[in-house]
Amino acid sequence: MAAAVLEQGEDAFRKIFRLYRRRSPPADLAEVLEFRPGEPRLRSVQFGVGALSDAAAARVGLQPLSDWSGYNVDGFQGFLFIVNPFLPGWQHRWVRQCLKLYPRKPNVCNLDLHMRGAGDLWDGSHAQLRRKSSQRRSEKKTLLEKLRWVTLGYQYDWDTKKYYKEQRSAFPVDLAELSRCVSLACGFPNFKAEAGILNYYHMDSSLGIHVDESELDHTSPLLSFSFGQSSIFLLGGLSRDAAPTPMMMHSGDIMVMSGASRLLYHAVPRILRHPGGGVLPPCLSVPPSTEDTSPLMEPCSPPDWEVCEAYLRSSRINVTVRRVLEEGGNFPEEGDRAAKEGTPGDAYHTEDPEMEERGGPKRIRPGQD
Ligand code: OGA
Ligand code: MN
Repeated sequence: MAAAVLEQGEDAFRKIFRLYRRRSPPADLAEVLEFRPGEPRLRSVQFGVGALSDAAAARVGLQPLSDWSGYNVDGFQGFLFIVNPFLPGWQHRWVRQCLKLYPRKPNVCNLDLHMRGAGDLWDGSHAQLRRKSSQRRSEKKTLLEKLRWVTLGYQYDWDTKKYYKEQRSAFPVDLAELSRCVSLACGFPNFKAEAGILNYYHMDSSLGIHVDESELDHTSPLLSFSFGQSSIFLLGGLSRDAAPTPMMMHSGDIMVMSGASRLLYHAVPRILRHPGGGVLPPCLSVPPSTEDTSPLMEPCSPPDWEVCEAYLRSSRINVTVRRVLEEGGNFPEEGDRAAKEGTPGDAYHTEDPEMEERGGPKRIRPGQD
């Protein structure tokens, strides 16, 4: 970390964030933790045999539990990393859901203000996206490429940083089931998927330093799924004075933040092309599975996959799933809510490196000053 110089008034987290955010010269990735056997800071996790049946796992595209590999990281009690447990050809279905289905009403997305009368995001973008990227270079971005976030279930309010009892749509059944399977496997049988935030990143995007504390239930884990290009994840402490640990996330990987790790500061300073040189990581280079073995999700058709593939060449999708209320819990009584202005959430996702260098974009989430 010799290259990271602490600026006056700068906290230790931000120093490391700036280091990995930097493009030139690019940061040395030697200290970024890769989740593979033999890493001294990692402890292999044994998943409870019988916690999740092979049949239930297969319905959502997961391998049998006995084939999963997961790790705890020294110093981060309650943090669990599962290395891509998806069956070959199945991440494709989740990517298609994230691009084609989840942005649709009644779910909420950053483009809602621009989309009145613009029709469906997917329908309006797929033809252009499927054309070869060389031909598209000079064309305007499609709406799908302008998508930054989608909220599911209890809609996260980016202005007030809260969830509200009345601001709720049905949580997607397939994603709720995937979350149930993962949480069962990890020893959280009471998890309920009540809210989801999907983040859509491009090669110059980042996600600012924050803590996810808006959920009223902090005893349940936060589940996080990654698809597409890779990224660096920084996991810090309860204060920004603790220097974070950089970790590498690849397509298909799942993170579980629970217990003492549920309220830690974290951020995504950088998106990286997956290692190996191909356009897509090997797990996405196989054709989509066409077996109709799941009553929950249709196969991803070859034409749909062409669109997803074109999108993922330079993008990463992150899906986080949260439980908002504790068992038997309720929302606090609310007074009048302030009127909203502007496009919520836009300032939270930044693609302007200068913004970070100048002291950061306006922070939207709690703990982001
Ligand atoms: C979030 C989050 C991390 C990621 O949505 O709260 O921290 O990996 N996402 O994109
Ligand atoms: Mn987060």
